[in-house]
Amino acid sequence: MSLSSPVFPGCFDPITNGHVDIVRRAVSIFGRLTVAILENPSKQWLIPIAKRIELVEKTLEVNGIVDVEVVSFQGLLVDLLRRLNSKTIIRGIRGGTDFDYELNLSRANHHLHPGVDTCFLMAHKDCSFISSSLVQQIVHFGGDISNLVPATIVDYFVGLS
Ligand code: PNS
Repeated sequence: MSLSSPVFPGCFDPITNGHVDIVRRAVSIFGRLTVAILENPSKQWLIPIAKRIELVEKTLEVNGIVDVEVVSFQGLLVDLLRRLNSKTIIRGIRGGTDFDYELNLSRANHHLHPGVDTCFLMAHKDCSFISSSLVQQIVHFGGDISNLVPATIVDYFVGLS
C-alpha cells in the first residue's frame, strides 16, 4: 500500500504569508502536500469553509505552487490521516510558544495514532509574528494586512467592505 502525501493541517482563517511559505517549503522537501482545512461547524469562523478552501486553492494557483491538494476535515486530524493513508503531519513553528503547543499536539496525535509523526518547519523570520488571529484583529479594526497575507486575501476582504 503506497503512502500518500504529508498533511499540513490548520484553520487557514485566513491563509497567511507564513502558511504559503510553509506550503512552498514542504512541497520542495516532500514533492507533494495535502493542505487540510479544519471545518468544525460548531466554531465561529471569520471565513466560511467553502470560501477558505477556494481562497487557499486560488492563493496556491496564483503563486504557482503545484502538487498540492486542498481538503477540509472535521473531527480528529489522525482520522483524516488514516483515511488518506498518510503518516506525516507538517506544522510551522514561529517561536517558543508555538513549540510548547505543538509539542503537546504532536504527542497527542502520536498517542492517538502511533504511526504518525509531525515534521516541523521553522517559520521564516519575516513571518515569525504573523498569525491568522492577528490578521483577524487587524481586519476588524481596519488596519493594513497587505504585507501579512497573499493578495487573494486582501482582495477578499476589500470585496467585503
Ligand atoms: O491553524 P491552527 O489553529 O494552528 O490549526 C490547529 C489544528 C487544526 C491543526 C488542530 O486544532 C487540529 O488538528 N484540530 C483537529 C482536532 C484534533 O485532531 N486535535 C488534536 C488531537 S487532541
